[in-house]
Amino acid sequence: MAGKTVLTGVQATGMPHLGNYIGAIRPALEKAAQEEKSFLFIADYHALNSVHDAVALKRDTYEVAACWLALGLDPARTIFYRQSDIPEIMELTTILCAVTPKGLMDRSHAYKASVDRNKADGNDADLNVNMGLYTYPLLMAADILSMRADLVPVGHDQTQHIEFARDMAGYFNNAYKSVLVPPTGLIQAQSATVPGLDGRKMSKSYNNHVPLFADAKARQKLIMKIITDSKLPNEAKDPADSTIYKLYAYFAADAERQAMHDAFTGGQMGYGDAKKLLAEAVEKSLEKPSQIYQSYMADLPKLDAVLEEGADRARKVARNTLSDVREAIGVKRLK
Ligand code: TRP
Repeated sequence: MAGKTVLTGVQATGMPHLGNYIGAIRPALEKAAQEEKSFLFIADYHALNSVHDAVALKRDTYEVAACWLALGLDPARTIFYRQSDIPEIMELTTILCAVTPKGLMDRSHAYKASVDRNKADGNDADLNVNMGLYTYPLLMAADILSMRADLVPVGHDQTQHIEFARDMAGYFNNAYKSVLVPPTGLIQAQSATVPGLDGRKMSKSYNNHVPLFADAKARQKLIMKIITDSKLPNEAKDPADSTIYKLYAYFAADAERQAMHDAFTGGQMGYGDAKKLLAEAVEKSLEKPSQIYQSYMADLPKLDAVLEEGADRARKVARNTLSDVREAIGVKRLK
């Protein structure tokens, strides 16, 4: 789809893990490389709703930024920035507030999930629900609409947020004139679920994850901890049932993957050896990115410079949108 603008945001919640890389980062980078114009930003004002610790927010933001650059994001091609560097996004949030019914926010899955949890625990329904969480979809719509993005690659859990962004573009365009572009979500297939060390979906909340750029030794140690059944090396194993094999399939070349597959089904490989092969394949893929990651983390002014350059480019686009929006609502255009 040539000529489209693709945009996605990532929460600044610290160092991504292997599952984030395979399930989200790699596909987003592939998508960004295909489209004519692409934006990728770090949603630090979304993270602010749950991170009330300046040191942590700052560190998480840098870690996420360095990860994406290390894994191949090309800032010359993809406009790469921090959400907090684009005040126009916050201005559009305010404007969208005026055309968005409160009922839409009430229906938000993320907010409702918190309320349900509170009720189930016998707590006040709004315990720990701040206005940032409640209006999360408004800020997210402003992220997308300010850059006039057509396509938004996101995980399955974000489907409703994209629908809301479409709705809000519609409310605005109907109330005034058509200046906002209703976006389309590119929802990643559920099949991209990457297993964690215990076989469940890899997730920080299960603590079964392998951080991408912990040092190589720590990564290897974690891989050696993958939980398996107690089959002996000479017993036949079903690759489809093996976390080791499933992870290996993401990192190994096709012939290597096939070799492990055949060794498993033929009862010719033990789990210990398979883990070693997996650790080697992971190291091979992450060795270079690790070096790039470390070099950015050791030179934060350089990282800031990349993000600021991206912010300058993104602000030009956002100012253009906001000028049109301001004119449409009866407020002075931006100079
Ligand atoms: N809510 C998204 C997530 O948790 C992150 C995000 C914020 C985003 N703003 C966005 C994604 C705009 C796409 C477009 O994954």
